[in-house]
Amino acid sequence: MKRIAVLTSGGDASGMNAAIRSVVRVGYVRKVEIIGVYRGYRGLLEKDFHPLLPRDVSGILERGGTILRTSRVPDFKKEENQYRAIKNMEEEGIEGLIVIGGNGSQTGNLAISEKGFPTIGIASTIDNDLWGTDYTIGFDTAVNTAINAIDKIRDAAVSHGRTFIVEVMGREAGFIALDAGLGGGADFILIPEMPFSIDKITENMKEAFRKRKMHHLIVCAEGAIHARDLEKEIKKRMPEVETRVSVLGYIQRGGSPTRFDRIIASQFGEFAVDALLGGEKGKLVGIKDNKITLIPLKDAVTKRKRINKDLYKLAEEVSV
Ligand code: ADP
Ligand code: F6P
Repeated sequence: MKRIAVLTSGGDASGMNAAIRSVVRVGYVRKVEIIGVYRGYRGLLEKDFHPLLPRDVSGILERGGTILRTSRVPDFKKEENQYRAIKNMEEEGIEGLIVIGGNGSQTGNLAISEKGFPTIGIASTIDNDLWGTDYTIGFDTAVNTAINAIDKIRDAAVSHGRTFIVEVMGREAGFIALDAGLGGGADFILIPEMPFSIDKITENMKEAFRKRKMHHLIVCAEGAIHARDLEKEIKKRMPEVETRVSVLGYIQRGGSPTRFDRIIASQFGEFAVDALLGGEKGKLVGIKDNKITLIPLKDAVTKRKRINKDLYKLAEEVSV
């Protein structure tokens, strides 16, 4: 293989740039030409191709977002577009593709791979919801940002004796909420994977008030319940309680990647290039039990990654 394309797709995640840098530089060392595809699958369809050399990726390791830009292209679900993307790459002598992205992006990647074009995925989404990998690029940074925010919010919660509801990202998964909740010392964590009872939460709060604990911190994943809706429900049951809502939003997606995201992104990038050169295809680069590994793309995108229930139980235990 002499020419490999790389693209970023879907939600941006801190550490994507570190992965791009690694692909470009490891490719250079292995004497493979790396072609950057701008704007994800949109760029594949519009031949937005740009050769990348080691100096083109200088100064990006510490930057959030993605220098290749990203996009959401609903039309990429159409097979005609997937064939067009393959034709566009073949016309430019591209022999393999690396897709850096989350669940949706890797589903598109699988579709290309199933049409006979060699592809490898790099697990990257703040949601951490790809099956088969313990971590995805961007998750660690997002959780650290959320914990930082919770630490600051706690100051007002304690000082004023208020109940704060902090909403974190995770449209379909509670991984950010669970880690940020445990790491930030939340009293309650609401995630889509676990049933919860608002009655039980307010009963616990009343009991805590009786013991003179006046503040509470609730962390909810947007996919479990929106903070504003939860606030209304709490107010219905406890009109006397002073509540405040903080929706963390996009601050979780951006910013300089943590040490962990930089390291795994660099490792994933190297692994992806070597996998393609070694004849692998239709696989996702991830990390399992501290070891970089390849996961069949089909499993990664069709199987549902389970939440760590022990961690959830621990979060309950340490919030008594
Ligand atoms: P993420 O990769 O962060 O989960 P999305 O779910 O928005 O983000 O997916 C990114 C892009 O991947 C979509 O805009 C689309 O171009 C492509 N994609 C998603 N699902 C599919 C699918 N079933 N088939 C082909 N392409 C898909
Ligand atoms: O990147 C994943 C994610 O952060 C989800 O948790 C969130 O719901 C979604 O992206 C929102 O992104 P956008 O507004 O770009 O669709």
